[in-house]
Amino acid sequence: MLSNFLSYFFLVIAINYLSSDIVRIFMYSTLMFWIIFKNVKYYKNLPPGPWGIPLLGILPFLNRRPPHVVYVNMSKQYGDVFSVQMGSNLTVCIGSTILMKEFFSRNDSTGRPHTPLNNLLGGLGVITSEGDLWKRQRQFLHEKFRALGVKLWPNTRFEKEIFVEIEELMAELDGSKGKAVNPTSLFGRHIHNVITQLMMSFRFTANDEAFTMFNERVSRGMRLFGLVLIGEHVKAYLKLPGKQVIINEIKRNLSDLSQFHRDHIVERMKERASLTIPKEPQDLLDHYLDKIEAEKKALDKNEKKNIFPGVQPENQIVQVMNDLFSAGMETSLSTLMWTFIMMLRNPEVADKARSELKKVVPPGEMVTMAHRLELPYIEAVLLETMRYVSIVPLGTTHVNTADWKIGKYIVPAGTHIIPLINKMNMDPDIYPEPELFKPERFIKGDKFTVTDTFMQFGIGQRMCIGNLLARMELFLFFSNVMHNFEFRMPEGEEIPPLEGILGATHAPVPFQLCFTRLQSTM
Ligand code: HEM
Repeated sequence: MLSNFLSYFFLVIAINYLSSDIVRIFMYSTLMFWIIFKNVKYYKNLPPGPWGIPLLGILPFLNRRPPHVVYVNMSKQYGDVFSVQMGSNLTVCIGSTILMKEFFSRNDSTGRPHTPLNNLLGGLGVITSEGDLWKRQRQFLHEKFRALGVKLWPNTRFEKEIFVEIEELMAELDGSKGKAVNPTSLFGRHIHNVITQLMMSFRFTANDEAFTMFNERVSRGMRLFGLVLIGEHVKAYLKLPGKQVIINEIKRNLSDLSQFHRDHIVERMKERASLTIPKEPQDLLDHYLDKIEAEKKALDKNEKKNIFPGVQPENQIVQVMNDLFSAGMETSLSTLMWTFIMMLRNPEVADKARSELKKVVPPGEMVTMAHRLELPYIEAVLLETMRYVSIVPLGTTHVNTADWKIGKYIVPAGTHIIPLINKMNMDPDIYPEPELFKPERFIKGDKFTVTDTFMQFGIGQRMCIGNLLARMELFLFFSNVMHNFEFRMPEGEEIPPLEGILGATHAPVPFQLCFTRLQSTM
């Protein structure tokens, strides 16, 4: 757009230098005709959508309503594909699983927006990186997750690490003696530890000051992010008084979180340097440091396999760690919290889940991955919760790197593409009677089944890297709590509403629960 504007500007100056008035009038008319023709063609080919106002698009009409609700309403009027102008960003929303499968599997679907806040991450890591850096990172992470035991099989080392967390959590629940506790804080440390164990064999202990610092930075970061979010669409907004102060605080916040991971890298490097015999890699950090050394030795020969193309390796590892933490912590924690809420809202589902557990796992024993195939209803409850509450209602925005032709419409390269996951979750053609909470929809015969229309982890080339990790930890945490404890709302308190808080995920409003041991497991 800006380059178009500049070319027109210079053309007008050039025309002004022409000597004859007639030639000048002719040139101006041609130029105007050309501009109108180009714009009419551009807008006519775009998917339909509401009119916005110049520079701001539809931003003033959002009226503080959450965008995922606004988009679902728009899709009722404009259909499965529509376009909206969000400030300077042309945005196309897709609410059809068929189109999602087709377009998100394409190589040209994998761009990410280059917006001011995304740019703060410097194109590093995995969530906002692109091209070779992103592709090789994903491949590396997939491979190493598998090697470290992130798979839905029994008896992996990683399963044992999750058990350390579950056992400590159950002791804490026992210690609460039926009094009201905040489950989000109580479970949060353990869900966090699952990720930090995998990344760098580290776990936060109870009342750890570093954990408090970490959480404060994250929640402050989220709030600050919300205060400058409009700047993602209208760059001039960030020039308003006070906004730069917020951006600087976001940068400091990010740098504190990065420093935490950087310190671990430095410490591990020292540890490894003191070893006489190299150790088998224990975690993702070991795998990364092995890779750095391997690349140093064979850089020239193996350039195509280099996973740090054009970036400083330590900075890249730090950002991957930040990414895994930010993508994996809140999503899994919110899902677990919503699952407890759904059990309270649907006691008959909770009864069915407990009786399935009772049939398969003897009282007092831990539920393990070895029981998974015999517990289809438990897995179905977890997926139905994700569908019902839409943990990540709008996924993560993609950018198409080439023009797309969707039916009769053209989506120009560089458009922000938003998957309407919450709309697809409530599509009656995919999920009959979508407003009912019905785990049975994920069971065929007596087996748990996930179809390729299940979009909670995204789909295609950028589909969630942590989906097996999430399914594994959710299964183990949820089934063990259900098998050993009953839980209820504190006296006089209502079950939290389905309208939660929308930040990075759709999280429930703060709530408390009272846990008591089930008699059968005492
Ligand atoms: C219930 C839990 C989770 C849900 C619902 C979820 C959902 C998603 C979604 C919708 C995306 C966007 C996909 C796209 O861009 O099209 C995503 C991306 C991602 N997720 Fe997850 N996620 C979960 C857990 C995790 C965990 C535990 C991790 C790792 C520790 C993780 C790591 C990532 C990463 C790194 C990406 C970016 C992938 C890329 O850009 O290539 N997620 N996730």
